[in-house]
Amino acid sequence: MPDRFPSLCDLLFTHANLATMAAGKYHIKKDAALAVSGKTIAWIGAMANLPEEAASLAKTVIDCEGKWLLPGFVDCHTHMVWGGSRSNEFEMRLKGASYGEIAAQGGGIASTVSATRAASAEALLAIGLKRAHHFLTQGITCFEVKSGYGLDMDSELKMLSVIREMDRTCPQDIHATFLGAHALPPEYKGRQGAYTDLVVEEMLPAVKAQGVASAVDVFCEKIAFSREETRRIFKTATDMGFGLKLHAEQLSDCDGAALAADFKALSCDHLEYLSPTGAKAMAENGVIPVLLPGAFHYLKEIKIPPMELFRSLDMPMALATDLNPGTSPVFNMTLVLNLACILFGMTCEEAIAGATLHGARALGINGTKGSLEPGKDADITLWDMEAPSDLCYLSGLLSPELVVTGGKIEYKN
Ligand code: NIG
Ligand code: FE
Repeated sequence: MPDRFPSLCDLLFTHANLATMAAGKYHIKKDAALAVSGKTIAWIGAMANLPEEAASLAKTVIDCEGKWLLPGFVDCHTHMVWGGSRSNEFEMRLKGASYGEIAAQGGGIASTVSATRAASAEALLAIGLKRAHHFLTQGITCFEVKSGYGLDMDSELKMLSVIREMDRTCPQDIHATFLGAHALPPEYKGRQGAYTDLVVEEMLPAVKAQGVASAVDVFCEKIAFSREETRRIFKTATDMGFGLKLHAEQLSDCDGAALAADFKALSCDHLEYLSPTGAKAMAENGVIPVLLPGAFHYLKEIKIPPMELFRSLDMPMALATDLNPGTSPVFNMTLVLNLACILFGMTCEEAIAGATLHGARALGINGTKGSLEPGKDADITLWDMEAPSDLCYLSGLLSPELVVTGGKIEYKN
């Protein structure tokens, strides 16, 4: 990438401290400048090396006065579009009912499915846009949204078209994932194979034909889809050119991770019950572990993902909100950072890398997103704090003063 200051500069940040998160490390640069041309980061350097004429070349200059610039958060796992609420289940769980028990009684995912089926596309879009705007105010500049609360052809396509509309309307870059195999819809009770047929033979071709998702996800679990059903779905999805993701080993070890590794999936998510062989298979095939401490916290889980194993296998760990109405009604990435440090024992640097560069890896977009480097998309947040670790340490205080996506200032606080 060019070291020369660009002749065209739309946005110039001066007197900033940078945590670039390049290669998943802080890579701190004190008293630095960052220039944006169009949608791209064009130049990063020390203030001392900033050409004298730089300020006059720039359309907009922002003096950061020693505040911190970081890459925008990349939230690689959300279920942001849903109808209804599950606060009643939160209360039931507080009284001792488990997530599995509530699901077995027709609650859980199935209850959100009926509310989401009943909602119009317009109503879901209005809800989705509100949530996406909240994400923006929290510094999340890119995120994924899964379908999976429709579970019939029309309702899944409705969800995916809402997600596409959100991507068109919101300043953030939004990635849609088809999660038709999230749960067995009630009308298929006792006919799991027939529903898997529907996903494979009808839904996947329709999603492909409409171009409304780039990846396919499955909930591989005793209360959801088996390893063999997952294999069938993955086989067709991979032949169609979708990226693959898997909700794996969240509540038990179903050996989903090794299967995902066979298919060279982008990521396996949750992973509390991951076995050493599963982790090794993931590492060998470049499958990114996505850790979701929000769901762990809300379900009051005890068994944490095998963090030391990930470290010893040199695996980049991603972190995400898993925003959903059941297990993780979490709208805030700094809370996720905090939970990851306290509950999973991540370092602050690991956690912030997980929510930026490694989150981008889990979406296959780390070439353009997730770190402050010349040539990458200008998705940037500005924070008034003493050090990057404040993002993990201070609860409920920090939100970004400025959020830039694709080179444009989209939010100011
Ligand atoms: O990531 N595990 C399955 N899916 C979601 C929960 C969805 C829900 O309960 O509505 C998760 O935890
Ligand atoms: Fe999830």
